Amino acid sequence: MKQVLVTGGAGFIGSNFVRYLLQSDEHVFIANLDALSYAGSLENLRDLIGEERHHFIQGNICDRELVDGLLKKYQIDTIVNFAAETHVDRSIVGPEPFIYTNVLGTFTLLQAARKFWLQDRSIRLEEARFHQISTDEVYGSLGPADPAFSETSPYSPNSPYAASKASSDHLVRAYRHSYSLPISISNCSNNYGPNQYPEKLIPLVILTAQAGKPLPVYGDGQQIRDWLNVLDHCEAIHKILMNGKLGETYNIGGGNPRTNLAVVETICEMLDELQPSGPVPHRQLIQFVADRPGHDQRYAMDITKIQNELVWQPRYSLEDGLRATVEWYLSHPEWVTAIRAQPNYRQWLEENYAKRVTPA
Ligand code: NAD
Ligand code: DAU
Repeated sequence: MKQVLVTGGAGFIGSNFVRYLLQSDEHVFIANLDALSYAGSLENLRDLIGEERHHFIQGNICDRELVDGLLKKYQIDTIVNFAAETHVDRSIVGPEPFIYTNVLGTFTLLQAARKFWLQDRSIRLEEARFHQISTDEVYGSLGPADPAFSETSPYSPNSPYAASKASSDHLVRAYRHSYSLPISISNCSNNYGPNQYPEKLIPLVILTAQAGKPLPVYGDGQQIRDWLNVLDHCEAIHKILMNGKLGETYNIGGGNPRTNLAVVETICEMLDELQPSGPVPHRQLIQFVADRPGHDQRYAMDITKIQNELVWQPRYSLEDGLRATVEWYLSHPEWVTAIRAQPNYRQWLEENYAKRVTPA
C-alpha cells in the first residue's frame, strides 16, 4: 500500500488527481491536506464521501506541526504538492499570499519530509518521493519562432505567481542536491476540465457566455497557450510517481497550442450548438479589454523526455476535451451556484473586471 499525502487536493487539478489515483491504483491510500482557500472546495470531492482510502484534512501546508503529525500518523511515503496560489492576475494585484503558500509552504513540506524520511528514518527511503507540481510559466515567455521549452530551458519567470513557483522549484532541487531528498518535479502547460475555478479563462468564458454577458479577451487575444486536458495531466503525474527518475524534471504539455481568441471562439461555437436558446451567435459577446500587465505572449512544451522515458503522451484533442468540459459546466449548475455564492468570487470579478467588462 502506498501512503500518499496530496496537498491542494480540493482544488481543480488536485481533486481530479485524487479521483484518478484512487481509481487507477487499489493499493493506494490518500491523505488530502487542503486549506480550503477560495479556490478549494469540498464540492470537488463530494463523490468521495465514504471512500475509506481517502481522508480529507483541512489545514495549511505552512503549519509545520500539522504536517509533521500527518506524516507520522499516516506513515507517508509519497508527497504530491499541488497546494498553491495559482491565478496570475491575482498575483499581480496582491503577491503576498503567493510567497506565503508557494514558497514558505513548499519549504515547510520539504523540511517535514527531510526530518521524517532522512533524519528519523521512519520509512524505507527507497519507497519515498516528494513530487512537486510546477508550471511552464517558470520558463518565461516565447517569441513566435522560438523552440518549445525543454527541461534544460533557463528559468525566467515574469509574474509574481511564476516567480513564486520558480522559487519553490529551486528549493525542491536544492533539497535533492544538499540532502539527497528523493524528489521529482513536473512542469505543465495550461490545464482545462471539470472543477476548474471560474476565474481562469475557459470556465470564466463558458459561464459568462451562458449568462449572455461580455466575454473579456485581454489585449488582442493573440497570446498562445498549450492546452492540456486535466486527465492527461493526472496520467502523466501517475507515470512519474511510478517510474520517473528521482532528481529529474519532466515537461508535460498538451500539444494543443491555440490563441486565446481561438479558444474563446471555439467555446462560443460549442455553446451556439449546445445552448441555441442563448444569445446566438455567442461570439457577438466577445469584447477586447485592457491587457494583463506583463502578459506572457506564448508558452509551448517539448515533451520528448516524458514521451521517451515514460511512454506518456496526451490522449485528448482540445476540441473533444473542450466539448466535454463545456457540457460538464452546463450539466453541473449546483456546482456553479455553490462556487458563485462565495463572496470572494464576486469581489474578485469586480476588482479585476470593473474597469474592463462585467463577467458572470
Ligand atoms: P487551484 O487554485 O484550483 O487549487 C489550489 C488548491 O490549493 C486549492 O484547493 C487551495 O485551497 C489549496 N491551497 C492554497 N493554499 C494552501 C495552503 N497554504 N495550504 C493548503 N492548501 C492550500 O489550482 P490548480 O489549478 O488545481 O493548480 C494546482 C497546482 O498545479 C498548482 O501548484 C499550480 O501551480 C500547478 N499548475 C496548474 C496549472 C493549471 O493550468 N491550472 C498548470 C500547471 C501547473
Ligand atoms: O501555463 C500554466 C498556467 O496556466 C498555470 O501555472 C496557472 O496556475 C494557470 O492559472 C494558467 O495561467 P494563465 O495565466 O495562462 O491562465 P488564465 O486562464 O488566467 O489565462 C489564460 C490566457 O487567457 C492568458 O493569456 C490570459 C487570458 N485571459 C485570461 C482571463 C482570466 C483573458 O484574455 N481574459 C480573461 O478574463
